[in-house]
Amino acid sequence: MSRLLVTGSTGQLGREVADVARGARHHVTGLSSSEADPCDLTNRTAVMRLVERSRPDLIIHAGAWTAVDACESDPERAFAVNGEGTRNLVDAADEVGAHVVYVSTDYVFDGTKDSPYVETDETNPTSVYGQSKLAGESVLGPDHTIVRTSWVCGRHGANMVRTIVRLAGQPGDLRFVDDQIGHPTFTADLAPTLLELGRRRAGGIWHGTNQGAVSWYEFAREVLLAAGHDPDRVHPVATADLQPPRPAPRPANSVLDNAALRAAGMAPLPHFRGALQDLVGHIEAEAATPSEPR
Ligand SMILES: NC(=O)c1ccc[n+]([C@@H]2O[C@H](COP(=O)([O-])OP(=O)(O)OC[C@H]3O[C@@H](n4cnc5c(N)ncnc54)[C@H](OP(=O)(O)O)[C@@H]3O)[C@@H](O)[C@H]2O)c1
Repeated sequence: MSRLLVTGSTGQLGREVADVARGARHHVTGLSSSEADPCDLTNRTAVMRLVERSRPDLIIHAGAWTAVDACESDPERAFAVNGEGTRNLVDAADEVGAHVVYVSTDYVFDGTKDSPYVETDETNPTSVYGQSKLAGESVLGPDHTIVRTSWVCGRHGANMVRTIVRLAGQPGDLRFVDDQIGHPTFTADLAPTLLELGRRRAGGIWHGTNQGAVSWYEFAREVLLAAGHDPDRVHPVATADLQPPRPAPRPANSVLDNAALRAAGMAPLPHFRGALQDLVGHIEAEAATPSEPR
């Protein structure tokens, strides 16, 4: 049994990591700015104090300001949380000898490559969010671990699967872009991989995503199929035709090849369909559960 600190412990990935770790009988401390005992990543003293007090062996750093479009108009906050916040955490980790697994993103790439991105490809983020996450990557020494992932969905919090299932329950057609492709990734599959890389103190850069490259249009069709709706209700649209246009540019190619996992003899995450079906089942079961009377 080891001591874990999970940042972003109120977010969709952090909650899943904390659940899996507790299930494996690790002692877990959560860090977020809305915990009962809040700690803001930008508050260096508070971060140092929390790490000193909890003395983790391993830190899974899933906390970040993830509002991609909002980051464009507030780069200071983006760099403070995702860049400097990560520096605070890594410095605190080094003080107590903890290993850090930093969760990063496909948005560190510009998306112009015509094949999947491998871990050694050159980064070139085009959005403030991507730049701030890359700033976070840059403060980790080679002994710590960076895991880039993409298109994250899970049981906890808001995500694209929940949005599509909700839209599917309403009348009318759905429109999704068909010129951005990526690997949808489910927290149920990603969390154990993060914990395993942390247990190994793997170090370096890894890509951790489910398999199955799709456009958002194709993914929306998959979600409708999984939920028993007619997939032909989804229509393709080009990013350039989105109204209103979104403030942050998105990479056209977000596909991350899990090359380092394969090279290390670790099983890459499975195809996304199994986890998608599980999540849709979970969302439907939630909807069918009567809420408590007031
Ligand atoms: N979502 C995606 O599609 C995606 C894709 C690629 C990579 N990622 C990366 O995966 C990780 C997890 O993403 P997610 O989808 O789980 O994000 P999320 O649901 O938005 O959760 C973010 C977490 O970070 C915490 N946080 C934000 N600002 C903070 C601050 N200043 N101090 C302390 N905690 C703070 C939030 O809690 P409070 O607001 O309560 O503090 C929340 O617990 C992130 O590093 C993200 O960059 C996500």
